[in-house]
Amino acid sequence: MKKIFIATTLTASVLFAGGNGYTKTANEVSKELIKTLGGELKKHLKANGPVDALQFCSLNAYNLTKKVSEKYGKDIDVKRISLKPRNPANTPSSDEATILSSLEAMHKVGVKPRNVIQDKGDKVVVYKPLLIKKKACLICHGDINKKPELAKKIKEIYPNDKATGYKMGDLRGAIVVTIKKEEKTSAK
Ligand code: HEC
Repeated sequence: MKKIFIATTLTASVLFAGGNGYTKTANEVSKELIKTLGGELKKHLKANGPVDALQFCSLNAYNLTKKVSEKYGKDIDVKRISLKPRNPANTPSSDEATILSSLEAMHKVGVKPRNVIQDKGDKVVVYKPLLIKKKACLICHGDINKKPELAKKIKEIYPNDKATGYKMGDLRGAIVVTIKKEEKTSAK
């Protein structure tokens, strides 16, 4: 019945073969992104502290995200968005902001934010809620006024930074995985 379409990479084709392939793919891609960014962050925090780690993130987080995207081929894209972005490039579109706001509204009344799956015709978009689960996140996204040197650096690199004041358990944003649907044949 349903044929497995040609995916650009072996990884992608294996991932797409599953029943609920889109969620599976999104989980895999987002896991890889968290592993990549988290690993580098941890390394830099440990080696030279928050100011160095901040600089590393500001120079590399966006490109590392792109690299993870590229690893999965041209039919898959991954990015991070937030209603309170640090990097202006992570500002959500109005559609995306609506979805983040509804996740936020649910989270506020104690409903666990779940993956949101959006059908956009030729592609599927999976939104994976991103919570502040680790204390380390608060170093740069919590009450940064406790660390004047770091606060100064953040202001210097991101004059319009909105990504502070978070507490443990807060919804920080979402990882958005966009997956192109399989090609439909004319015989259908
Ligand atoms: C050393 C400082 C630092 C720490 C610690 C840190 N971040 Fe960030 N974070 C940044 C910087 C800098 C950016 C902007 C980088 C970019 O994406 O270009 C950022 C961006 C983000 C974004 C993308 C949206 C936006 O605001 O631009 C998310 C989501 C995020 N961080 C979540 C987390 C989470 C979750 C943790 C804990 C695991 C964490 N951060 C720990 C510095 C930090």
